[in-house]
Amino acid sequence: MSETTQARLLDGKATALAVREDVARGVERLLAAGGPRPGLAVVLAGEDPASRVYVRNKDRAAEQAGFDVRSVMLPQDTTQARLEEVVRELALDAGVHGILVQLPLPAQLDARPVIDSILPPEKDVDGLTPTNVAALVLGRDGLEPCTPAGCIELLDRHGIDLSGQHMVIVGRSMLVGKPLAQLALARNATVTVCHSRTRDLPARCREADVLVAAVGRARLVQGDWVRPGAVVLDVGINRGEDGKLVGDVDFAAASERAAAITPVPGGIGPMTIAMLLANTLRAAVASSGIDPALVFSPAPQGVDG
Ligand code: GUN
Repeated sequence: MSETTQARLLDGKATALAVREDVARGVERLLAAGGPRPGLAVVLAGEDPASRVYVRNKDRAAEQAGFDVRSVMLPQDTTQARLEEVVRELALDAGVHGILVQLPLPAQLDARPVIDSILPPEKDVDGLTPTNVAALVLGRDGLEPCTPAGCIELLDRHGIDLSGQHMVIVGRSMLVGKPLAQLALARNATVTVCHSRTRDLPARCREADVLVAAVGRARLVQGDWVRPGAVVLDVGINRGEDGKLVGDVDFAAASERAAAITPVPGGIGPMTIAMLLANTLRAAVASSGIDPALVFSPAPQGVDG
């Protein structure tokens, strides 16, 4: 960390590890209660190098948590029919409790019917099917998209309360911006969602108590876009000219003004993976019919600590 950095670092790597330990404990309790080992299927079509790294990290984390992992790697020229068939087969497999299709897909493929093939929506651990999106908007039980859920979990575990706060989100994607707006509203934040047509983006950003950058443009958010004392969540993962990973925020400049900030790498990225595991455990518990309290509540004193 540079000498000028004043912001508190929101360490997503350490927080994600804590979530993953909770999940691993949950898996043991589920097995002890006679439940199934959670099964996660990760589908990757194509050769995008960044996606390959993400998928490898997801597989590894899932194995470490004690899950059964199925990785399905499909070639760049996979057809729409083939991809949908793969997803439908996984959906029919009783040992698979969660399915994730890594996005973006190769250009010839349409993600929408692929996501719609994740049935029942209880297996949609990415929270992207219309049923889960509707549940999010309606405030009903459902599986929440992993990246925005990771943003909320990171804030929760650092004692940052969103109630009454103005969250400004830069980016309106279905993976991050839109669902995060819903999650923040449910936490009683006032939410502004900015995008490429927003007028005077720096001024909107300066209004934020909690500023979230999720557009995928390296260092778009400048230091002087950050209101002194704001919390900054950087969801972007971009490759800089030197090949290193950089976020959507100019970290060095922003951390001189922010009260707290996430780094890239080691911020929201690891939280996304942790929430995928948490969603998959939830899906496995729900499918088993076992009382969730046996898996998620703290163990009674003297049993396993
Ligand atoms: N690509 C980048 N982030 C994500 C994610 O959260 N889910 C999926 N399926 N693809 C992604």
